Amino acid sequence: MFLWRIQGASAQKITWNQHIAPIIHANCTPCHKKGDAAPFELVTYDDVAKRATFIKQVTQSRYMPPWKADSHYASFANERRLKDEEIAMIAEWADNKMPKGKEVAGQPEHFLEGTHYHRKPDTVLQMPRAFHIKGDNKERFIVYKIPYEMAQDMNVEAIEFVSNNRKVIHHANYEIDAVPDLDIYAGTDYINLTEDDREKYIQYVPFRQHMIYYGGWIPGATCESYPKNIGWILPKRGVILLTLHYAPVGKDEDNISGIQLFFTKTPVKREIRAVSFGSGGVGQKDIDPYFYIPADAVKTFRLKVTVPEDQSIMYVWPHMHYIGKTFKAFGVTPTGDTVKMVSVTDWSYNWQEVYWYSKLLKLPKGTVIHIEATYDNTAANPANPSSPPRLIYSSGDMKSTDEMLTLVMLYLTYEKEDETISLKNENIMK
Ligand code: HEC
Repeated sequence: MFLWRIQGASAQKITWNQHIAPIIHANCTPCHKKGDAAPFELVTYDDVAKRATFIKQVTQSRYMPPWKADSHYASFANERRLKDEEIAMIAEWADNKMPKGKEVAGQPEHFLEGTHYHRKPDTVLQMPRAFHIKGDNKERFIVYKIPYEMAQDMNVEAIEFVSNNRKVIHHANYEIDAVPDLDIYAGTDYINLTEDDREKYIQYVPFRQHMIYYGGWIPGATCESYPKNIGWILPKRGVILLTLHYAPVGKDEDNISGIQLFFTKTPVKREIRAVSFGSGGVGQKDIDPYFYIPADAVKTFRLKVTVPEDQSIMYVWPHMHYIGKTFKAFGVTPTGDTVKMVSVTDWSYNWQEVYWYSKLLKLPKGTVIHIEATYDNTAANPANPSSPPRLIYSSGDMKSTDEMLTLVMLYLTYEKEDETISLKNENIMK
């Protein structure tokens, strides 16, 4: 990489204490710490110095920190990317034999346990029984049903994924469904998407037609909270469908996960809503062409949906499975302007996440949202789960070796000057 060298800066020696520790602690430690999914800790000088060359490589190639969305296309509040100068500093430090430098007072050595929010949660809704993960080095995808009942509807100001064993979880998503009339306790506790559980899965379909909220977690993610007056209402009775992607493990493990909620007495003035487009959601039948991918084909699918009122978008969550390659969403307004929403150019099933806009994003009434995704079902795609490739068909269910084309959005009805409302939140700690 070529960088302009400024006299003063290059004369200064890059040291761990002064320069490198703050970069690592802010950008790497949230995942590379005890109990999280990353394979080793990056906390102390020794942790980092002994892997300096490796760290130089993975930061220069931008493999780490993982961030799949194209930051030139759209910018996000939760963006995880190192600046070019930071990458250059790490390289220079590694090349100069990792000087430690003088201690700097007040460096964070402790990372918060329990919550990332600025106060304790009001309630935790968790899996009623632990899930047992066999140590057979296989991946697992589980949808766990968590039924709950409260005394009344509750105003939510923040929500956070929690787990007793985060290191076995590669990612998690949760949807909250309001189901006053359905039997939330009948049927199975969970379904296993890795095995052929279609019959069982059908049990959860009625719940999924009443989605109130949708959230996501990957290692390093914190909690979801919202600007002033904005929130959502947890219905008094419902289910949480918690999708867990368990990483392969070599010895048996147990896991209990759930969500914790932070309520407020102040009534929510502006209610957040969630919508899911594509497979299993709105417009499933309108995906063009018909959603199946023959063996050995590379195919692109499109879905167009029209926005029914002026809206402010909070986040987008693009979703495909293993053979997804690229994903793009943009709006075309009635006056012909393009609103760039998200572009992922090298999709990885392992690094899917919820992309929060830096500021509320306006989509005027009548805007057509274009969703476009390309899938590579050839043997040349190393992520193809089938060898030789097989016909991939999806009826909107979530089996991991089938495919999906889905975009989930959180949104509000637009109000004047929403474009100035920032979604960065000071109440969340890393
Ligand atoms: C969002 C969580 C997350 C963040 C942030 C993150 N890592 Fe990682 N890292 C992981 C996980 C999970 C793995 C193991 C899986 C993999 O390699 O894909 C990993 C693997 C690695 C590896 C091994 C790669 C290999 O090929 O085996 C290195 C080195 C690394 N990370 C360094 C860093 C550095 C340096 C940073 C900060 C600049 C960082 N990581 C930030 C989650 C993260």
